[in-house]
Amino acid sequence: MTPQPFKGWPLFSLLAVFILIMSALAVALQPDLIEGLRSAIRATARSSFVLFLTAFTASAFAVLIPSPVTKALVRERRFIGLAFAFSHAVHAVLIYAYGQLNTGFWPMRSLIDNTPGTVAYGFILLMAITSFKGPAQLLGAKAWKTLHTTGLWIIVAVFAYANFKRIPMSAWYILPFGMVCAAVAIRLVGKLAQANKRRQQPARAAA
Ligand code: HEM
Repeated sequence: MTPQPFKGWPLFSLLAVFILIMSALAVALQPDLIEGLRSAIRATARSSFVLFLTAFTASAFAVLIPSPVTKALVRERRFIGLAFAFSHAVHAVLIYAYGQLNTGFWPMRSLIDNTPGTVAYGFILLMAITSFKGPAQLLGAKAWKTLHTTGLWIIVAVFAYANFKRIPMSAWYILPFGMVCAAVAIRLVGKLAQANKRRQQPARAAA
């Protein structure tokens, strides 16, 4: 059987290669290495954003607009989530490199500045590890659900905050902030629709 590029690990690999090429280009296209790293940090934040929102809204879209595309997104949610974790790992490596070259970076940041991002990174790591069968079984279904649901809401909140705090720097950040708000609304409406569907099923079966 030939592997399909838009499924499973081949899909993850394709996204990972795209993220690495994008990051290398973002660094290479700036005349200054420090500015190049900053630009790549922003680029990976944006690739992470798109991948995260896709995984975050996948099941809601599949309920609200059932189609082969939305069903495929639900099926591939795990690999899109892992590609998000990969993109954010690259974000972290670039931040580390940026901090090494720009020695004023870490001293300029307070504990409060670093807390939301650090907590989100902790959840990203735990969610990525427990997306594999063995660690998931060790954790148990109930704790797995609590970890992944809490993590999703913490990450979405960090994206909302990271974009919101940049609005005074550029009005363009209203766009990603609005996208986060829309994604939250879509997810909640999707959950309501799913609950409604479940309630109607036993009634229909009884009739
Ligand atoms: C302690 C951990 C983190 C540090 C030190 C950090 C650092 C940075 C830096 C230096 C930038 C570029 C700033 C600029 O030049 O404008 C940036 C951008 C950004 N980061 Fe992170 N980050 C962290 C974690 C996270 C996490 C966990 C998320 C999301 C879940 C995130 C989302 C973003 C976003 C949305 C941007 C703006 C991208 C844009 O300009 O469109 N960051 N971060």
